[in-house]
Amino acid sequence: MQVHSEIGSMRAALAKCRARGESVGVVPTMGYLHAGHLKLVERACAENDMVVVTIFVNPTQFGPNEDLDAYPRDLERDLAQLAAFAGVQVFAPTVAEMYPQPLQTSVDLAPLGQILIGAARPGHFRGVATVVTKLFNIVQPDRAYFGEKDYQQLTVIRRMVADLSSPITIVGVPTVREADGLAMSSRNVRLTPEDRDAAVVLARALDRGEALLRAGAAEPEPVLTAMREIIAAEPRADLASLDIRDAASLDAVTAIDDRPVVILVTARFGDVLLIDQRVAEKARRSQAA
Ligand code: PAJ
Repeated sequence: MQVHSEIGSMRAALAKCRARGESVGVVPTMGYLHAGHLKLVERACAENDMVVVTIFVNPTQFGPNEDLDAYPRDLERDLAQLAAFAGVQVFAPTVAEMYPQPLQTSVDLAPLGQILIGAARPGHFRGVATVVTKLFNIVQPDRAYFGEKDYQQLTVIRRMVADLSSPITIVGVPTVREADGLAMSSRNVRLTPEDRDAAVVLARALDRGEALLRAGAAEPEPVLTAMREIIAAEPRADLASLDIRDAASLDAVTAIDDRPVVILVTARFGDVLLIDQRVAEKARRSQAA
């Protein structure tokens, strides 16, 4: 498996693939890979001749008081996990390679990048959209793979590609979960054993919310109330946000009709912020019967 830390070497390898007429997929990550990331890689390998997995803990998407230094890193372990995939090349640049000089250019989405998580983490989606644009320019993929777990991020990237007429197909991949339902995340290793067990409450609350929506809830509020009660019953969970939004635009919804909605939740367990999501729509009459 080839590992590139420089843009020039990555581009040279890609040029050879393109000369052979191969299609290219990219899976952007911040490393410390788990089964959720590997599901994206698996999907990318199934749909492309060559796949680039990028591993870069992007400093510009972390706020001044966020967990950039605490973010787990283990390149050797990541490479060992990727060795199982034929046709994968890794792009793992340094910060200096990606940001040789302070940026004067950035990609900002408004309002999409400023609502929800963007409101709690000002500048976060600017950092994400800008680094993903750089990675797209370096790799020039046919397809790019993102997890539904980071639902707002996926929505931001889809919108960015549409707005900027990028010729890249964005593929959203369903969330991979632990056996008890906890969404896999690089941050889970920072949970204490007690918080790890308590964190399953998010998946349980989402199950309940989804069931109420499928059963035909007419408004978001009763669904949110039922979910808040479930999360409040777990003293280790510190609920940070809970929203029901239009699944395509993330616009607020007041009445629930036949369009799919997404439930978005973020909560702290100790100092670890976890996020999860669930897309839900009313059961169709034929399914409900
Ligand atoms: P990171 O958190 O490493 O996630 C990389 C990709 O893996 C994202 O698309 C994320 O949604 C997906 N992912 C994470 N956990 C998942 C799970 N349990 N199931 C399915 N997919 C999962 O997201 C980032 O990195 C960064 O913001 C990045 C896009 C790389 C830009 O720096």
